[in-house]
Amino acid sequence: MSRVNEPIPVRLQAYQPHDYRMEKTDLCFELGTETTKVTAYTRIVPQAETPGDLLLDGKDLTLLDLQINGISLAEGADFTIDASEERLTVRRGALPEGDFTLKVVTEIHPAANTELEGLYVSNGVFCTQCEAQGFRKITFFIDRPDNLAVYTVKIIGASSETEPVLLANGNLLDKGVTEDGKPYALWSDPFPKPCYLFALVAGNLGVYEDEFTTRSGREIALKIYVEPGAEDRCAYACDSLKRAMAWDEQKYGREYDLDLFMIVAVSDFNFGAMENKGLNIFNSKYILADPEIASDADYEAIESIVAHEYFHNWTGNRITCRDWFQLCLKEGLTVFRDQEFSADMRSRPVKRIDDVIALRASQFPEDSGPLAHPVRPETYIEINNFYTATVYEKGAELCRMLHHFLGAEGFRKGSDLYFERFDGMAVTAEDFVQAMADANRRDFTQFFQWYRQAGTPILTAESLYDESIGRYSLILSQKTDSTPGQPNKSALPIPVKIAFFNSVGEKTLCAFGGEKKNEHLLELTTEKNIFVFDGFSEPPVPSILRDFSAPVKLKTDLTVENLIHLAQYDDNAFNRYEALQEITTGYLIDSYAKKSLDLTDPRAVGVVKAFQSLLNEKSDPAFKARALILPALSELIGKIDGVFPAELLTIRNQFRAHLAQELQDYFNDHYKRLAPIGIFEPSAESAGKRALRNLCLQYLLIADPKNGVIAREQYDSANNMTAMIGALSAVNDMICPERAEMLTEFYARFRNEPTVLDKWFGMQARTLLPNAIETVKYLLNHEDYNLKNPNRVRSVLGAFAHGNPAYFHTPEGYGLIAEKVAELDAINPKTAARIAGAFEETGRLAPRLRDSAEQALLKLQSGGGAEISKDLYEIVSKLLRASEKA
Ligand code: TRP
Ligand code: ZN
Repeated sequence: MSRVNEPIPVRLQAYQPHDYRMEKTDLCFELGTETTKVTAYTRIVPQAETPGDLLLDGKDLTLLDLQINGISLAEGADFTIDASEERLTVRRGALPEGDFTLKVVTEIHPAANTELEGLYVSNGVFCTQCEAQGFRKITFFIDRPDNLAVYTVKIIGASSETEPVLLANGNLLDKGVTEDGKPYALWSDPFPKPCYLFALVAGNLGVYEDEFTTRSGREIALKIYVEPGAEDRCAYACDSLKRAMAWDEQKYGREYDLDLFMIVAVSDFNFGAMENKGLNIFNSKYILADPEIASDADYEAIESIVAHEYFHNWTGNRITCRDWFQLCLKEGLTVFRDQEFSADMRSRPVKRIDDVIALRASQFPEDSGPLAHPVRPETYIEINNFYTATVYEKGAELCRMLHHFLGAEGFRKGSDLYFERFDGMAVTAEDFVQAMADANRRDFTQFFQWYRQAGTPILTAESLYDESIGRYSLILSQKTDSTPGQPNKSALPIPVKIAFFNSVGEKTLCAFGGEKKNEHLLELTTEKNIFVFDGFSEPPVPSILRDFSAPVKLKTDLTVENLIHLAQYDDNAFNRYEALQEITTGYLIDSYAKKSLDLTDPRAVGVVKAFQSLLNEKSDPAFKARALILPALSELIGKIDGVFPAELLTIRNQFRAHLAQELQDYFNDHYKRLAPIGIFEPSAESAGKRALRNLCLQYLLIADPKNGVIAREQYDSANNMTAMIGALSAVNDMICPERAEMLTEFYARFRNEPTVLDKWFGMQARTLLPNAIETVKYLLNHEDYNLKNPNRVRSVLGAFAHGNPAYFHTPEGYGLIAEKVAELDAINPKTAARIAGAFEETGRLAPRLRDSAEQALLKLQSGGGAEISKDLYEIVSKLLRASEKA
């Protein structure tokens, strides 16, 4: 068996407040890369009526001393340590009545910490990652988010050469040199916080400085710490931060609360970034930017992640989670806030399209597979496995639906009440929704079911038109398939935004529920209901679920002609995009079933025409760049049971080639017309032009590989990363002489730029050329591949497993990933478990693939005799349990 002890799941229902709370803690770190000594003095207050033993969390710690009120305790007699439970228990009998001070002295080993959780060393810099449960790898503590304490932190560096910069949360109280010549700093954070928001950074770092004046006139010092020499790559992140600070004041009335806000960029990081109070720590990929190394997608990600972590200061830090089941309380709301921020900074319609594409690519498959869980889960083995698309992205959709129901003003009233009621507290998802309800005198009892129920509802819409009285009726019904542990589903309240178009493409006024408007918001609260609209003089074409007003799978009875009409006339950019996608999706699915394309099918003809008129019209190039892409292979896979992804890819490629050939002149024309003028600037507007130009280039190469010379020209004359990457990805899937040349040159030029080199690895791992698997093996043996750096691992294993479905979903692909995940698990279980999640769809594929996926997972579970991590165990056992039932 893979694990000695079957891990015991944690359950929401079992929540109990701790018997004690920690009021104030004073930490002292004596840093050493091999061994660091941590001394913690903590004031502890009993909070239960009859407090029992004192239970502390701790993992991989060497305990040097444990004292209460200055007296050392004895192991065995006074306290015990259970390593497998990550628990230290002080017997009630060894504790005084009332408050007391606990002293804990531990030793930890930062350089040996490859899990990147707790205190570790990245590129010679000490840094911490404590969310979700990393603080217990620093000292014995009440490591749960409802334990809010005030912290002071003294850091003593090993030497002024190695650690000239010493940072922790809050304000700097003192700094200097100790008697034995070591640098020290003393920090104090006045805001009570859970330990997952603790942070410490120490090392040799450069700093980019700026300031921000709040609307009440307070001056905030902004400091971004990066590896020396990279300071001039911080300007865009800093500008994003200032815009986020101003936006939160305007939109939510939230000001920053300390006098100092710091960001540190590190190169080894398990996630995007972390919102530690006053000291955000970032994956350097989401801070460093200049036109030479960062693509438009990077700029956009930096803007949104900097904002996301900043917004957590109120939604997450000032108001935090009672327990980890409530993760969506901070993440769903903060993602919603960062999405809205980006929508205001850039193009709102395009942002919505991109967010829905991302939701469908990652959350929909999760919600319909063996790993499906509610936005607010009820049980987990390893909480790190629940930092998911469901908690984050579907969680954001739930906030967005509340926004639809309440309007901007009502939502603001609700958030004002939320901040007023719960500032300084650790609360639940119910508390948030109740504040929204109370501020607006609404009842969201049924709405809360969205937090409890996993699975994506299927929303079916049927139309009826009564010519004689100009009445249009829409029958809406909903159904949610069962998910693991939840066989029966109830009806959810679904907001459906709708409008109607007449035969010449104008939006039509109509009456619904006594209101005459040209757009209505319906609410389906039951399994099935009929909605009646009056006042038409001809049969209208309905535009349903505008802006994707609910996270559902919509099935309509619209005809191909209806969809073509919407693709041409709908003034809701999302639904316009959607209409075209719907036509293509249906056509490709049917073609896959027939194993061939019928190019005379009205849908094939319609798409060519629609592409042509889209290219010719004067609309936002960023929108065109989305609309002219066929539905992703991953999305199509989710819609066909028993599918062979590789065969589906062939069909998709054939249709793409047809479009490329039919429209070659148009693509060529546009490509030339979109040639860059002037110097690079990262605005959404010019990014849109670059995106469309790169897409045209891609079609040009598909039409004729000889157009590799055009890609070569673009590459040679590029003055920014977006143009370079565009040229490279255009040749990446083609057999043309330019491919190898350009890849070799790119490597030579950027081999010392880790984030750029990640793109080089990632692109090749996603190649559609038949030697994809060989390519991945070559990349895994490359001298710059590094199992200890999560960005690099994700750029090969992640890019292949999650981003190259046609080749991952093969027996060889499964075998390769399973083998590499097992290796990684010994070093970084969190990243290993995340990559293993790529198997979530295999149970629905063709039987031959399903069987070989199962074999690969069984092998992974057996761990080759070694004990696999709790993280990986939870994922693999859920995947296997699902295949037993299949
Ligand atoms: N709270 C972080 C965010 O959303 C997520 C995060 C950062 C995280 N590092 C982590 C989650 C490590 C789990 C483990 O913004
Ligand atoms: Zn977050």
